[in-house]
Amino acid sequence: MSTQAHGPISIELKPTSQPVAAAEREQVLQAPGFGQHFTDHMVTIEWEAERGWHDGELKPYAPLQIDPANAVLHYAQSIFEGFKAYPHPGGSISTFRPDANARRMQRSARRMALPELPVETFVEAADTLVRTDAAWVPREPGKSLYLRPFMFANDVYIGVRPARHVTFCVIASPAGSYFASGVKPVSIWVSQEYTRAAPGGTGAAKCAGNYAASLVAQQEAIDNGCEQVVFLDAVEKRWVDELGGMNIFFVLADGTLVTPPTTGTILEGITRDSVMQLARDEGRAVHERPVALDEWREGVESGAIAEVFACGTAAVLTPIGRLGWRGGEVDCAPSGEGEVTKHLREKLTGIQTGKIPDEHGWVHTVC
Ligand code: PLP
Ligand code: COI
Repeated sequence: MSTQAHGPISIELKPTSQPVAAAEREQVLQAPGFGQHFTDHMVTIEWEAERGWHDGELKPYAPLQIDPANAVLHYAQSIFEGFKAYPHPGGSISTFRPDANARRMQRSARRMALPELPVETFVEAADTLVRTDAAWVPREPGKSLYLRPFMFANDVYIGVRPARHVTFCVIASPAGSYFASGVKPVSIWVSQEYTRAAPGGTGAAKCAGNYAASLVAQQEAIDNGCEQVVFLDAVEKRWVDELGGMNIFFVLADGTLVTPPTTGTILEGITRDSVMQLARDEGRAVHERPVALDEWREGVESGAIAEVFACGTAAVLTPIGRLGWRGGEVDCAPSGEGEVTKHLREKLTGIQTGKIPDEHGWVHTVC
């Protein structure tokens, strides 16, 4: 049982007696899309100021009961994570750098005045769900089981204060490509009116509010025929920060990778970090430095920038094609996906799926 405030938090197993029928599950796994279908179970762990973390449970996937006065509905004290489970040759299942997601969730928790879940409990919660719902891990290349841990204020109180009751939950969703177009170059709209994160704000935290604040800009992107939005810095509106849900890389003509630095306004992407490491492993120069929107536009025109790609757990590495803004556009991938983007994606996904040796201890075997 799991009532300790300190020490390991155990997860009691209460599996469903009514799992989705195998034939129905297989149909979902054929074309999972992204974020639309969920597995048979979820894990929850509760936290109270007086008791710490307790009551870890694996139980049937089901709606949560939320009181209308629940603080999260009013003040968005809520954070989340995202990582994936992959089938490996021989039939085992592994996740990729779950400890890095656990540590990032701790950083997000500190910024949002939420309690920190111990790294090993975070990893064990995800492992328990993956082990139980292993049949939901798609076996076909390019698909995976997306894991979504999240944590939210669960106080029935509409005064503004850090929550005294918090719920941590992990759900899982079979996933294909995040973009409907697959890995074809995506079109990006520059948000010149809206910003996503300011110095001192919550840009580096994976908190719900950041995504809420990005939606009007995302809608503007769609209205202008683009699939995603890219945000500029909030102070000068000059420097490229990141996309609504992905980091960004530029490949220069000489093969150097350039990506905006993590100075508190962008998310410290785990894919971003992995790509930098893999590129450095092969002797490629990697620079974390500010990139101005003008450098991007002019670099594509002059050939100084050869490729641009977005990266994240959901998006993996996706080439960026058309860049649009009010009054103009430029095509970043006139001949389709670039060689460097393709090579780095194949290397990363090769490690994630056990086809390329993992030299960094990133792969975590679950079952
Ligand atoms: N930036 C934002 C705003 C994101 O939501 C994500 C997705 O998680 C990323 C970057 C990429 O992070 P990661 O590579 O850890 O998935
Ligand atoms: C992820 O890549 O895990 C994210 O959270 C981004 C979101 C766009 C799905």
